[in-house]
Amino acid sequence: PFVVTDSCIQCKYTDCVSVCPMDCFVEGPNFLAIDPDGCIDCSMCVPECPVGAIYNATDLPAALSHFEDLNARLAKLPGWKPITKAQPPLPDHAQWKDVTGKLPLLKM
Ligand code: SF4
Ligand code: F3S
Repeated sequence: PFVVTDSCIQCKYTDCVSVCPMDCFVEGPNFLAIDPDGCIDCSMCVPECPVGAIYNATDLPAALSHFEDLNARLAKLPGWKPITKAQPPLPDHAQWKDVTGKLPLLKM
């Protein structure tokens, strides 16, 4: 499956969700995840993300490898709901978009 990674945290641009033919994005407070059970590896979401947060799990850089399990886990959390329509990014997105290592800020 494809995987949302660190760059999305605190930004959540949501351009990705409107192109997914399988509607497999789920939304949390400051991050989106891809439900691996729905993803058909079409790759259409990848170029939509303005911060390049989405990778094929097979191409994940080593530093981001933990995001594969994280996406699967978050996608099953009761509070994380499917999102299919783009919405405005988070208010402080510009301040966070080039910051790395944002995992400690992830809200569940
Ligand atoms: Fe959806 Fe395709 Fe992206 Fe998977 S790779 S999340 S199916 S757009
Ligand atoms: Fe996140 Fe990029 Fe989608 S920032 S919400 S993965 S467009």
